[in-house]
Amino acid sequence: MAEEESVKVAVRVRPFNKREKARNSTLIVEMKGATTVLNDPSGENDPKRFTFDYSYWSHDSFKEEASGYLAPAKPHYADQNMVFKDVGMGVLANAWEGYNCSLFAYGQTGSGKSWSIVGYGPNKGIVPLFCDKLFVQIGEKTAGGETASFEVEFSMLEIYNEQVRDLLNPASKRKGGLKVRQHPKLGFYADGLKTVAVSSYQDIENRMEEGTKNRTVAATNMNATSSRAHTIVGIKFTQKYQNAAGEETAKSSVINLVDLAGSERAESTGATGDRLKEGAAINQSLSSLGNVISALVDKANGKKVRVPYRDSTLTKLLKNALGGNSKTIMIAAISPADINYDETLSTLRYADRAKQIKTKVAVNEDPTEKLIRELQEENEKLKKLLESGGIPTKLDDDSDDEDEEDVKSLSKDERERIRKEMEEEMQARILASQQEMEEMKKTWEEKMKQSHESGPVVPDAGAARKEKETTPHLYNLNVDPQLTGMIVHLLKPGEHLVGSSNEESGETPCILLKGLNIQPHHAALIVEGGKVYLDRCQTSPDAKIMVNGQPLTEKEELDHNDRILFGANHLYIFADPKQAGGKKSPAMTYEEAQAEINQNSGFVVGKPDSLGGSSLDELILQDDLVEVLPAIEQANTMSEEMDKKVKFEVAIIPAKKMGIVGSETEPPQRRPPEVLSTNRVMVKMRNVELGLEYLWTKAKFMNRKYLMDEMYESFSDGEDINWPDERDPFTEPPDHEEMIGALHIYLESIAYKIEAKEQLDLTNIKGIEVGKLNVELWPCTQTGKVLRDEDAFVDDPETDLKGQPIAFKVKILNARGLPDRFVDIYCKFKVYTMEPYQTQVIKKAINPDFKFEQLISFNAVDKLELDYLLNGSIFVQLFGKQVPKKREGKKLNTKQIMKKEGMLKGKDIGAENVPKHTVDEGKVGYQFQVLTLKKRLERLEKKMAQMNRVVDVAEKSSKMRVKTDTIKTVLRAKNPDAIEKAIKTIPKDKGAGDNEGVNGQPQSQESAACTLL
Ligand SMILES: Nc1ncnc2c1ncn2[C@@H]1O[C@H](COP(=O)(O)OP(=O)(O)OP(=O)(O)O)[C@@H](O)[C@H]1O
Ligand SMILES: [Mg+2]
Repeated sequence: MAEEESVKVAVRVRPFNKREKARNSTLIVEMKGATTVLNDPSGENDPKRFTFDYSYWSHDSFKEEASGYLAPAKPHYADQNMVFKDVGMGVLANAWEGYNCSLFAYGQTGSGKSWSIVGYGPNKGIVPLFCDKLFVQIGEKTAGGETASFEVEFSMLEIYNEQVRDLLNPASKRKGGLKVRQHPKLGFYADGLKTVAVSSYQDIENRMEEGTKNRTVAATNMNATSSRAHTIVGIKFTQKYQNAAGEETAKSSVINLVDLAGSERAESTGATGDRLKEGAAINQSLSSLGNVISALVDKANGKKVRVPYRDSTLTKLLKNALGGNSKTIMIAAISPADINYDETLSTLRYADRAKQIKTKVAVNEDPTEKLIRELQEENEKLKKLLESGGIPTKLDDDSDDEDEEDVKSLSKDERERIRKEMEEEMQARILASQQEMEEMKKTWEEKMKQSHESGPVVPDAGAARKEKETTPHLYNLNVDPQLTGMIVHLLKPGEHLVGSSNEESGETPCILLKGLNIQPHHAALIVEGGKVYLDRCQTSPDAKIMVNGQPLTEKEELDHNDRILFGANHLYIFADPKQAGGKKSPAMTYEEAQAEINQNSGFVVGKPDSLGGSSLDELILQDDLVEVLPAIEQANTMSEEMDKKVKFEVAIIPAKKMGIVGSETEPPQRRPPEVLSTNRVMVKMRNVELGLEYLWTKAKFMNRKYLMDEMYESFSDGEDINWPDERDPFTEPPDHEEMIGALHIYLESIAYKIEAKEQLDLTNIKGIEVGKLNVELWPCTQTGKVLRDEDAFVDDPETDLKGQPIAFKVKILNARGLPDRFVDIYCKFKVYTMEPYQTQVIKKAINPDFKFEQLISFNAVDKLELDYLLNGSIFVQLFGKQVPKKREGKKLNTKQIMKKEGMLKGKDIGAENVPKHTVDEGKVGYQFQVLTLKKRLERLEKKMAQMNRVVDVAEKSSKMRVKTDTIKTVLRAKNPDAIEKAIKTIPKDKGAGDNEGVNGQPQSQESAACTLL
């Protein structure tokens, strides 16, 4: 009978990594008993609390043993054994009872999923410990006289970009990967997945190694980002015995151990604002998983909802684990660092939802005969259906699933198509049932024999490992530490050719590499006299080879821990046990080696070999470059090979300019505020044929790169890559708007009611001048009447403007000298907190006349507004669309165009040329300040002249004193008439006396008067 059971959730926090330590990251996670508290580093939000079934503190309080195992130094540290004892042993106990079990790890990239599920070196994770223990227990049962027989089968697959790859059988790589099918009895399955019988832990370890190696090779060759792949290890454990009635009975458990892809949210993986995001299947599986979990939670809460398992490959294969017959555990892996607050919060929320899910578990225990009979019956049914030729309206009898299409409403062609698909599906089911029946009938010995015949790819992993200890070798570096060191090339005496397979000559080099930029004769490794040399091959003088970040120029002797890059993405470390002399000197990590390459390509950002030495912003910039530069290099190579006429360049943009990129700006990330004031990495995409340029955020580029890889894979498979523009990652739609330039109009003059007429430099995002904009600011009345200078009286804005209304006109007259590739030009600007204003769109012009004016008014200026007027600015952006340039003459391919432009490969990862004419940010501000000061000075001079007249008139009429009122009027009069009138009153002032004043004492008491000296 099925019982309901909740999904169990564990949370685990890892130590700070090297970078986080170098950045002095703050720890934002606390664990108290079953409660996990997440603190917001910005202090904006209250601490968030969560409770889970298990909480594992693996952040600190551990010590590294000689073996490298991280053991507890204090009791609250959760080591691998502790996690296994709770989680792994639970799964094992359930497997013995005949329950299906699933364990999956969720969390952002680098949060420790693989650490928990697979483990690293001596810190073995749940999978190896589980397998080890399983065989130990089998051994104990058998030794204890147990008569049942035990069978363990193993499979390993990867879902990348929605395609299923069989990691134990890479040769089976088919277009589109293995098909995921559904069977009424067997559920969803990957059709044709290799399952091998294993009889010992060593067997499994070898298989795992083989699978991981295949993953690494595939990832490197396709320059795929492995952290975007989901890995599923499947273990089927069957106990066979005779039941009380003497029937042969099978108690079986299917165990799925799932290492999910990193859970970066859609925004930060970059598709925000990119029209291609729909096409990218990067996170389709993960977002579907989220949707399935939500639906299951709703269901658990009594709502009637459809569970969208069919939306992705992952959710199909995990259907049982999530909503079917499976005891399921999820490990939420989290980073301890402040910088990851958003991601960690999202992981914890995800986990919090998952724990509400309930599955229906039942023991799988049936007589073999019964199982076979059921499968046979199923097949009979299917065969009949096939013979009758009718299309079933629904292949799926699961109420959870979406409705199948309404057959009646379909066109004839569609019906035919569906009929064909169904037929294929039914035939596949019949075959699957037959295979399953055959498997059941096979004895264990037969299965083992078969597995051995199919042979592990690593014939003797143990011996190979031993040899590595004494023989010089190369091992790979991968961005995923889990895949680092998986490929090893032993270097025995003699010459070893490195290269791609040569289709013409049919020759296969000793070290076979595939992928971008790899030549058939790429390089040679020569081992002689106990030394190892690296050399170029004469036939490929252009082959890209780097040693320790420097291009290889001549035959070079290799030293222990040298870094070697072949082509665009095959990165290796040379290890020579003799040179190492038994000492373990740590080699560079992937990030460090990549930073070294970047540094030598002109990106001197911090010190790659001592991550601790640089400032926080340099480190972040370096991280971004480590990610982006190799990807740019690969993208350029792909563009050349597929002739996409596109060239990518890195652009380092001051972060404060980021806000002006428009809608495709990366979301503000929770980075320390000081970081926001520094530089960001962006990518310039240039269509070299049409002369179009676009600036992409790093995230958008990385997302596009993923699609480029996909396109390149099709291209390598010889498929047609004439994809429509809307799917092509190398294009931007023709109506895509770019920001041509921007500028600030400072308002200080307005605060003094002084008009400003300026020709301002328009600068692009890199601070390079791209044209001029003629703008004017006119102080005016609330109704828009322009104030004459004499009418405007502001001496001290603090006192004169506060509480007063103020109004002015913003005029954008025209732009001059813009780049000629733009059309449909317009300006957009924003004043204070008001909605943005926009000028008319000028169709075609290098010198567009906007003739735009807008009245802006403030009713009663408050402190903030005053501050805005005195120190703030209006930010104007100029947008336009680019028109493709018509190229004259012969059509060139990408490579030829690049050559012509003097951008030969090899040089191309360098930064853009340093701009010739950059505009000083501060200059525009000064421009306005000077203007305002000049005007104020003029005003003061005018006033001084009036005051001189006052003195003259007073002297001429022999007056000793002038009334304060008169002086006030002269100084502050709003118009010249009032001044004239006031001056005329001086000679008539009786109380001012002539020269009788004694000691400056006023004779008259009429008013507090000013005495003329
Ligand atoms: N509990 C831990 N103790 C010590 N080191 C850890 C722990 N968890 C993770 N690490 C280290 O952190 C790094 C990233 O961990 P891991 O490879 O498990 O991340 P991941 O979540 O699998 O990332 P991805 O999504 O990229 O596959 C590794 O170098 C690993 O050794
Ligand atoms: Mg991983």
